[in-house]
Amino acid sequence: MSLIEQAAKRLEELRRAGAEVGDGTAGAGSADPASREPERIPTPEAALHELNARRSVAGPSMRTEGRTEARPEPIARPPVATTDRHAPVRVELDLERLKAQGLVTPDVPRSQIADEFRVIKRPIVRNAFGRAGTRVANGNLVMVTSALPGEGKTFTAINLALSIAMELDTTVLLVDGDVAHPDFAKRLGTRNSPGLLELLTRDDLEVGDVLVRTNIDNLSIIPAGVLHHRATELLASEQMAILLRELATRYPDRMIVFDSPPLLATTEARVLATHMGQIVMVVAADDTRQRDVELALSMIENCGVVLMVLNKADKTDVGAYYGYYGDEPRSA
Ligand SMILES: Nc1ncnc2c1ncn2[C@@H]1O[C@H](COP(=O)(O)OP(=O)(O)O)[C@@H](O)[C@H]1O
Ligand SMILES: [Mg+2]
Repeated sequence: MSLIEQAAKRLEELRRAGAEVGDGTAGAGSADPASREPERIPTPEAALHELNARRSVAGPSMRTEGRTEARPEPIARPPVATTDRHAPVRVELDLERLKAQGLVTPDVPRSQIADEFRVIKRPIVRNAFGRAGTRVANGNLVMVTSALPGEGKTFTAINLALSIAMELDTTVLLVDGDVAHPDFAKRLGTRNSPGLLELLTRDDLEVGDVLVRTNIDNLSIIPAGVLHHRATELLASEQMAILLRELATRYPDRMIVFDSPPLLATTEARVLATHMGQIVMVVAADDTRQRDVELALSMIENCGVVLMVLNKADKTDVGAYYGYYGDEPRSA
C-alpha cells in the first residue's frame, strides 16, 4: 500500500473515530469522545493532513487568536497528541548516508570532521555544564546561526549535535528552527512530521508529542513541522520564549542545539538569540563579506556567549573554531 493510500486509510479511521479531518462537514468533532473507538497511531501524513484540515476550519493562527474565534472549537483534540504521548516516534538514521554528507557518526569517532567538532564542542559543553565558575546561564540552549543563508548552519548544527551525543551522559535535542527553510528531512533522511511550529501554534501538544527519537541513543530531534505562513514570525513569539525556558530547565543535563534562520535575513532570528545561552556563529570562509559578519555580530552583541566557527575554509581549517566574540567566559 502506498503512503498516500495508507494515509487515506488512516484518515478514514480517524473520521470513523470522530475526528474532524477537513472534508468540510461541520459537526464531526461533536461526537461524544467516550463513544469513540480506541485511538490509533496516525501516520505522520495523516497527522499533517488532519492538522491542515483543522487550520482550514479554524484559520491559521496562534493559539491565543484561536481562543478569540467566534466559531466553536471544531474538535475536542486531535488523535496525534494522545497517541504520540504513549508511542514516541523513532527513526533510524542511516549512518552511511550521514557519512556521505561529511557528517559526524558515532561509529567513526576519529575522522577529521569528528576531530574538528570535538574542538568546537568542547567549550560549548563546558559553558553549559562546567563547574560553577565556567557555567553560563541557560548555557544548554545553543543557537547555530550565520549572517546569510548557505554558510553551513545546518551542517554545523547537525555535526555539533552528533558530536555532543557521542559524549557519555549528555543527551542532545536537535531542533530545526530554520522554519522557513527546514532541511532536516533532506539531510537526515527523516520524514517531516509535526514539530516546532505545531508546538507553537497548538495548545494540545507537548514537547514529547513531537519529539523524534533516533538510533543514536543520546540524540532526539524536533523537526520544523508543517510550513506555516507566519513560521518565522512565530520564532519571536512569547510561546517561543516559554518553550525555550521549558526546554532549558526540564532536563538540565540535556543540550539543545537549535538550527536557526540567518541573522541578516530575518529580524526574528535576533529575538530568538536573546533567549539563548550560547550562540554559534557560522562564517563561510572566503565567502561572507566582513561587513556582513560585523553587521550580524552587532545584532547579537547583547547575547552572553558567541562562538565563531569558520566553515568551508581550506582543508587545514575547515570547520575550525576560532574563538569567542563578546564576553568570553572564564576558562576552566
Ligand atoms: N564544512 C563543510 N564541508 C562540506 N560541505 C559543507 C560544509 N558546510 C556546509 N556544507 C554544504 O554547503 C551547503 C550549505 O550548507 P547548509 O548547512 O545547508 O547552510 P545553511 O544551513 O547555513 O543554509 C550544503 O550543501 C552543505 O552540505
Ligand atoms: Mg540550513
